[in-house]
This record gives sequence, C-alpha cells and structure tokens, in this order.
Amino acid sequence: MMGRGRFITFEGLDGAGKSTHVEATAERLRAQGREVVVTREPGGTALGEKLRELLLGEPMHLETETLLMFAARREHLAQVIEPALARGAWVVCDRFTDATRAYQGGGRGVDAEKIEVLARWVHPHTQPDLTVLFDLPPTAAMARLANARTLDRFESEKAEFHRRVRESYLALAARDPGRFRVIDAGLNVREIEKLLDNILVSYCF
Ligand code: TYD
Repeated sequence: MMGRGRFITFEGLDGAGKSTHVEATAERLRAQGREVVVTREPGGTALGEKLRELLLGEPMHLETETLLMFAARREHLAQVIEPALARGAWVVCDRFTDATRAYQGGGRGVDAEKIEVLARWVHPHTQPDLTVLFDLPPTAAMARLANARTLDRFESEKAEFHRRVRESYLALAARDPGRFRVIDAGLNVREIEKLLDNILVSYCF
C-alpha cells in the first residue's frame, strides 16, 4: 500500500504572488509521477466557497470570522485534504491555518490561544509538512494589488494591518524553521521558480 501523501501549504500577504507558483509547483510534482491535489482556503469545497464569499464580502465580528475560517477548513479537511493524503496524494494548498494565525491573530488581534484551541479541534493530526512563505514588505504587496482588481475585505485593510500580518508570518516561520521556507517575493518569477525547485528537491528525496 502507498504511504500517506505530503501536505504543502503556500502563505503570504495578498499581492505577494504566491498563487502564480501554486500551480507550477503542482506541475513539477506531477512530473515526478505523483498524484497532486491543488486547492485553496477559504474554499476548496462547495460549502467552503460559499463561506469564502461571506468572509471576503460581509462585515462581521473578528471571532465570527475566525470561526467561519475554521468551519470552512473542517469541511475542506473532511472532503478534500484528508482523503487525498490517505490515498497517498500530495496536497498543495493556497493558505491554511497559518493564514488564520497571521490575519485573524496578528492582523485583527484574535487571542492566539483561541486560534490554537480551534486548530487542535479541527485538525489535531493533520499539519502541513512544508510551508512556503512568500515574504514581501506590505507597501510592495499593496502596490501590486492596487491596479489589479476590486479589493476584498482583507486587501482593503490599511497598511498597518498588513504590517502586522507580515510580522506574524515571519514570527511563525522563525518559531518553526523545520516546516517553513521563506522566499523573498520581491525576486522575479524565474528566480522564485529556481528557489522553489531547490526547496522541492531538498524536500522530496
Ligand atoms: P486568497 O485566496 O489568497 O486571496 P486572493 O484569491 O484574493 O488572492 O485569500 C483570501 C483572503 O482570505 C486573503 O486576504 C487572506 C484571507 N484569509 C484569512 O484572513 N484567514 C484565513 O485563515 C485564510 C485561509 C485566508
């Protein structure tokens, strides 16, 4: 029987450019003959995508926001992530619980211990094996977003919010260097692809 798959997450500020690299990473892993599932949070299931619409558009209490993130995550784990890992597939996910730690915890100020209670409840046995953090100063990230499209509830937060989110991400990475790899998202696409290749090579074999 095949072993359990691996769980790889991508994190970073809005505008850091991580989404461009999620699909390319999946392709590289597929080229090694693996089954790869690409997904994202909030979302990844029919219910999760409905919750995503509410989360990105509807004003709500900061703890309601946190609970809905974890509600969407619970469904996502049950329907997509855990079955895929169990059958030996690799899962590449655009954001996971570190985004809640950084955005709801760091950005909004939700008590970190409450977030950890929810994380232990919702995924006691499933943690990312590898997390790639796309790091960029908030001014650069926001400049990239500015002419892209209509901004959602998070993207339209002020610079100070994004600064706190970035600091939280960097603190998480510093606390768990075994799981995190930090990439300078200010580099060009080719350079980032090279760094990602090196990370995957050192990780996969
Ligand atoms: P993302 O899909 O990266 O945005 P986009 O499709 O616009 O590139 O993420 C959507 C937003 O949700 C993003 O601003 C971060 C936020 N978010 C949280 O605040 N907490 C979470 O737990 C997650 C998963 C996302």
